[in-house]
Amino acid sequence: MSVEGVRDEAVIDEARSRSEHVLAGWLNRQSGVCSALDDALSYSVLGTGKRLRPVLVYLAGRALGAADEALDSPAAAIEMIHAYSLVHDDLPAMDDDDLRRGRPTVHRAFDEPLAILAGDALQTLAFEALASRAHPRLGALVTTLAQAAGRDGMAAGQAIDLGAVGSIMDLAALQAMHQHKTGALIRAAVRLGALVAVAETDPRVAALDRFAAAIGLAFQIHDDVLDVTGDTQTLGKASGADAHRDKPTYPALLGLETAQARARELLDEALEALKPLGEAGQPLATLARFMIARDH
Ligand code: IPE
Ligand code: IPE
Ligand code: MG
Ligand code: MG
Ligand code: MG
Repeated sequence: MSVEGVRDEAVIDEARSRSEHVLAGWLNRQSGVCSALDDALSYSVLGTGKRLRPVLVYLAGRALGAADEALDSPAAAIEMIHAYSLVHDDLPAMDDDDLRRGRPTVHRAFDEPLAILAGDALQTLAFEALASRAHPRLGALVTTLAQAAGRDGMAAGQAIDLGAVGSIMDLAALQAMHQHKTGALIRAAVRLGALVAVAETDPRVAALDRFAAAIGLAFQIHDDVLDVTGDTQTLGKASGADAHRDKPTYPALLGLETAQARARELLDEALEALKPLGEAGQPLATLARFMIARDH
């Protein structure tokens, strides 16, 4: 790897550690009202997890000049929404998975009601975290997170996903599903970071959005690919689960190689979109490469 790549990796690791620390501050704070729910919440969020979305918040924000202190709350908030989406995604009524991040899923380690409620509580905690620090564009930040998580974003994508089991989707429908269930939160992460730094009208916000849209779709395509090529131990979640459940995926529709080629094309689009940021975009470029080269 180049000297710049090694430098960027250190920057990414540091952002990841920072997000772990901020998340621990929120999740280790027991409410004391119901210790079982407190425990299910910390179990859902803390521990392993690549923390890609909070890292995207830090890198996008820093690229446009934001201070880390102003990025902490949005970074924690987006990871809480993501963790909630995983807890619910794994439920028996959804993907029915037993393993997540290398250990039993929340409904297995606790029970189904607590997994549902942990997801609910994480979603509201995310907005509490986001609102915990004043910002002149707080309204735009809240709207960004809400739209990405809800009926215009992740929840809609998940509904399409679950409604499509066993059916054949065309490429446009599959792309739209991936853009919603996964792309929306990745796009929101980058937008949150950008809007902490600058106003919507800054042309770099649009450039970063083009980056995020491309890498968000590529990320879910690579997730589909890993379900075929990865092993359960490395993934920390069951491999082969999509085929087992007859899920519509890129490898199922296009074949493995075409799916991988599409992810690479999207990576190139993402890197192209970063060009207007110059040197400041380099850590994001390194993270984007990792996002579709990762083995877990
Ligand atoms: C898994 O996301 C779910 C998808 C949206 C593909 P990640 O691969 O980012 O999961 P963690 O947070 O690292 O466990
Ligand atoms: C995840 O899609 C999308 C979410 C919103 C959680 P998957 O169902 O493919 O994610 P994994 O493979 O279980 O992590
Ligand atoms: Mg799913
Ligand atoms: Mg799943
Ligand atoms: Mg998957």
